[in-house]
Amino acid sequence: MNDATVLLTRPMPAAAAETLQEADLRPITLDSESPPAREDVLAAVRGCAGAITMLSDRVDEGFLEAAGPTLRVVANYAVGFDNIDLDACRRRGVRVTNTPGVLTEATADLTWALILAASRRVVEGDALVRSGRWTGWAPTLLRGLELCGATMGILGAGRIGTAVARRAAGFGMRILYTSTHRNDTLERDLGAERVELDRLVRAADVLTLHVPMRPENHHLIGAAELAAMKPGAILINTARGAVIDEAALVEALAARRIAAAGLDVYENEPELAPGLAELSNVVVLPHLGSATHATRDRMARMAAENVVAVLAGRAPPNAVA
Ligand code: DGY
Repeated sequence: MNDATVLLTRPMPAAAAETLQEADLRPITLDSESPPAREDVLAAVRGCAGAITMLSDRVDEGFLEAAGPTLRVVANYAVGFDNIDLDACRRRGVRVTNTPGVLTEATADLTWALILAASRRVVEGDALVRSGRWTGWAPTLLRGLELCGATMGILGAGRIGTAVARRAAGFGMRILYTSTHRNDTLERDLGAERVELDRLVRAADVLTLHVPMRPENHHLIGAAELAAMKPGAILINTARGAVIDEAALVEALAARRIAAAGLDVYENEPELAPGLAELSNVVVLPHLGSATHATRDRMARMAAENVVAVLAGRAPPNAVA
């Protein structure tokens, strides 16, 4: 294996391999639609100059040790990079990149798919019709939350949180947000108000999470926050599973302390917290936030362009380390 070999840890859109080949690099792909065994990844990365990794790959000392000194860049095929030990990469001089910006709109759309599904009980309605137990229109059947005039609470007003808020304005919602930085676009264009977490949790009819997975965000929404939410509120998570204490969420949903939840991400993917799948007031998706044809193509090209830049001795456009 020469030093221009780049490992793709999963089959991905052709744009990645094409971009690498145009730069005379040699892509090799692990041929497994589901996450490959760790030992297969470690064996395959040995001697590679670059790797395009997934959020399901742990890039840690073990990975870097297995790759050896030839490895110069890890391009994560995701905007999140909590699967990567950045300090370990820095120590070995391995650059790390991500795919910001290109998945913002797709993820905001999917967030809204969950908001609408959970607030208007779309999945419960679909199940009822298919079951043959629907007896016809009824005045109180599957009533849900009316979004127009309701309060949207955005936890984390970065690119995706802002895109979700823009859509909320179109639905006639009042917008509150919590963020480490003031978001001028949200305040000026949408009349949004920045508040503390405590007020956000209490006031939101829809609470949607858009913070990165950092240690300080672990179980940011736990039993206390769930207890403080309105009884008719819904909780949406398209960020990272561990932002919510899932055991506390299962309890709150089962006891109807909040009305519903819509989840695309889980703490131990693909495992669900015990009891979650049995609840009718939660909509569960298999981590599809960025899963449109156009977005996944852009992510593939972007990841490969970052690899090409580093291996050509240039600064990668999307460096995180
Ligand atoms: C990300 O990019 O971090 C998403 O979770 C997967 O596309």
